[in-house]
Amino acid sequence: MSVELGMPQPGSPGPRVPHAPDGTPVSWTDERFAEGLLHDTYGRVATDLRVSLTDRCNLRCTYCMPAEGLDWMATDKVLTAGEIGRLLRIGVEDLGIRRIRFTGGEPLLRRELTEIVTAAARLDPRPELSLTTNGLGLARKAEELAAAGLDRVNVSLDTIDREGYAAITRRDRIDDVLAGLAAAADAGLTPVKVNAVLDPRSGGADAPDLLRFCLERGYELRIIEQMPLDAGHDWRRSTMITAATVREILGAHFTLTPDRRPRGSAPAQRFLVDGGPATVGIIASVSEPFCGACDRTRLTADGQIRNCLFAREESDLRAALRGGAGDAELAARWRAAMWTKRAGHGIDDPDFVQPDRPMSAIGG
Ligand code: 5AD
Ligand code: SF4
Repeated sequence: MSVELGMPQPGSPGPRVPHAPDGTPVSWTDERFAEGLLHDTYGRVATDLRVSLTDRCNLRCTYCMPAEGLDWMATDKVLTAGEIGRLLRIGVEDLGIRRIRFTGGEPLLRRELTEIVTAAARLDPRPELSLTTNGLGLARKAEELAAAGLDRVNVSLDTIDREGYAAITRRDRIDDVLAGLAAAADAGLTPVKVNAVLDPRSGGADAPDLLRFCLERGYELRIIEQMPLDAGHDWRRSTMITAATVREILGAHFTLTPDRRPRGSAPAQRFLVDGGPATVGIIASVSEPFCGACDRTRLTADGQIRNCLFAREESDLRAALRGGAGDAELAARWRAAMWTKRAGHGIDDPDFVQPDRPMSAIGG
């Protein structure tokens, strides 16, 4: 049987057989995929799973979605809670996944979120569980999620300026986010991390106020370079606020000293603020990529494995799962999908092509 791992790409005549970076076609039926961890050809091993639970969102961040939203995935395409639970079990028990992060869209919009977290917390070995959320509705759910076994949250907050926040997200909801952050800290979902993508329109001038806000409350701020994952394909390298600019802007208000603790696969470069112990993280995904240390694998809400945010191919676990595949086949397909991971995202390559799916449909 010929094996189709790739998604049909627009403009190409149908499913493509995926290739390892050296050009060799890869089939999940190859016996090297019958057991083991999620290796790739560069010696990396994926142990950190990002699971997108929905592509829907209640904000419309300009760097992610158009004002009118997107065509959401059809409900029957989205994995059920039971299907997600099964894939998480295979990931943890058979493939060596040790950390699971739930993402979206906005994962708090997924009705069965607590149920899914509960199932994940029962796995053995017990994975570390975190959630990336925009914070809307978190105030109501933080306690329940902590009780279900969630360990930590990352809350997206790009600026502490009310008008600036409404301009970026196209919704005047900053109060909900602030209440969500406070509730997360109270519920022990710590360390509470704040993710910020700086708006080129402000030039990053509001970053010092955001850092001050986080320092006062014990939240760990992480500033992320904007990546070309917007639905409108409007991203330009030239207008992106780089990590170097962020260091310069923050450096004018605070003393930043590089944190000497080993960084491992963490994307953030950490700095002690005014001598510490508080830190700020800067994630230079574009200008100083960390792909060589990447340990991530991604599962989209519609059941596709992506070996990179910027992958051009996906592996359809949903079709296999709904076609009656056993655990061993699903695990083999997942291993084969990771084997084809490229060395890096190649954003700076002249032939770089932005993925068809925006961030909200991939999972951050
Ligand atoms: N570049 C960088 N970060 C992004 N996020 C969403 N879109 C982008 C992008 N194009 C961030 C969100 C959130 C996390 C899921 O990813 O702000 O913090
Ligand atoms: Fe929603 Fe996150 Fe996209 Fe903003 S970046 S619109 S919060 S999915």
